[in-house]
Amino acid sequence: MATGFFLHHNELVCDGVSVSEIAGAEGTPVYVYSAAAIRDRYREIDLAFAGYPHRLHYALKANSTFAIVKTLRDLGSGVDANSIGEIDVARRAGFAPSDIVFTGVGKSAAELECAVPLGLKAINVESTGELDRVEAIAARVGRPVRVAVRINPDIDAKSHPHISTGLKINKFGVPADAARDLMGSIPTRPLLQLVAVHVHVGSQITSIAPLRSAASFVAAVAGELKRRGTLLDYVDLGGGLGIPYDGGPAVSPREYVSALVDAVRPTGLSIVIEPGRSILGQAGVLIARVIDLKPRNALSEFAVIDAGMTELMRPALYGAFHRIDPVRPRSGAARQYEIVGPVCESSDVVGRDRELAPLAVDDLLAILDTGAYGSAMASNYNRRPFPVEVLVDEGRWRVVRRRQTVDDMLAMEVEGQVDR
Ligand code: LLP
Repeated sequence: MATGFFLHHNELVCDGVSVSEIAGAEGTPVYVYSAAAIRDRYREIDLAFAGYPHRLHYALKANSTFAIVKTLRDLGSGVDANSIGEIDVARRAGFAPSDIVFTGVGKSAAELECAVPLGLKAINVESTGELDRVEAIAARVGRPVRVAVRINPDIDAKSHPHISTGLKINKFGVPADAARDLMGSIPTRPLLQLVAVHVHVGSQITSIAPLRSAASFVAAVAGELKRRGTLLDYVDLGGGLGIPYDGGPAVSPREYVSALVDAVRPTGLSIVIEPGRSILGQAGVLIARVIDLKPRNALSEFAVIDAGMTELMRPALYGAFHRIDPVRPRSGAARQYEIVGPVCESSDVVGRDRELAPLAVDDLLAILDTGAYGSAMASNYNRRPFPVEVLVDEGRWRVVRRRQTVDDMLAMEVEGQVDR
């Protein structure tokens, strides 16, 4: 049976649990996640490898709410951490250092000081300078360190420019030629062990071609290294598989994985991928309440809701589209709404020109496919608290992150300190 969010008797349910009941008990805005959908999606990707050696390293940046991280741990996932904060959360959730790859374009000196002695599966370096800094720390603490080199393959992911990362003009990775020189230097540096080549060409990629090209590129580099006597442990192909935000057809995990496996199989190396959105995206919704309705133009009304760019930044930041559905659709002819948040910015539009069943003040709306890069990107702008988050699991639900309070926010603002 399909898992996640469906209309049942004209009401949105999450794996059989009434979303209105959750909103009634916890208030809005509230993120609701389906544990079953997370598990199904993880397994779908995992099983698509059909026995080919691999490991999924869930990209924590998509959603690192603790209960979600633990759900992934229980599935046997590894993680991709992009900061020492994410590494800390992963460690507290029970991930071993060998389950963690540390990625990211700007790892500070303090972060590397913490990370190098941990003995992670790999630190994925993004520049010559970073590799030097890692080596210096390894020398100081007197232990070898496993590194991967992230190569910028100059491949166009054809995603939104803000989340395309594989072109030369982007800040990510080491250009291919420089990477060859850099990797060539590693065998002469006794504390550095080159375990993988890494690429990540972008996120929300909706065609297979750039993902396949990136995998072929990495396979070719691994082949070259082998001819020069360097044997890798694995190749790291990053994340990036998109989801169908419009509800239409999409590249399936099976097509995606078989393209990767076909490209890498000749090398015999095992594959690491770092999926974020493709596991969490469709497993979460943001529930908001209609606060106000007012005329907009001859055709449409504004529906002001109690969630906006502070809870879900994607529409304002990328012009991203998320389907929006009433939790209990009313009967009557559809009307056109501009669905806007409460924040004092004109960019705070959650959905433009939407045809919806008629709305009334106090109705609940579900903003779909917000499990990834939703709560993780929330802010306190306008002193708006982080929303409550609920996990539905096996027909029951529980709060996994309570709503933030003003006390929580002010607790960080120290009073009575002596001026310096
Ligand atoms: N690995 C690396 C090195 C990454 O930078 C990312 C995402 C991932 C894996 C996971 O990619 P995914 O499978 O989720 O596509 N905030 C944006 C997305 C930014 C993605 C950043 N990097 C959004 O809301 O669309």
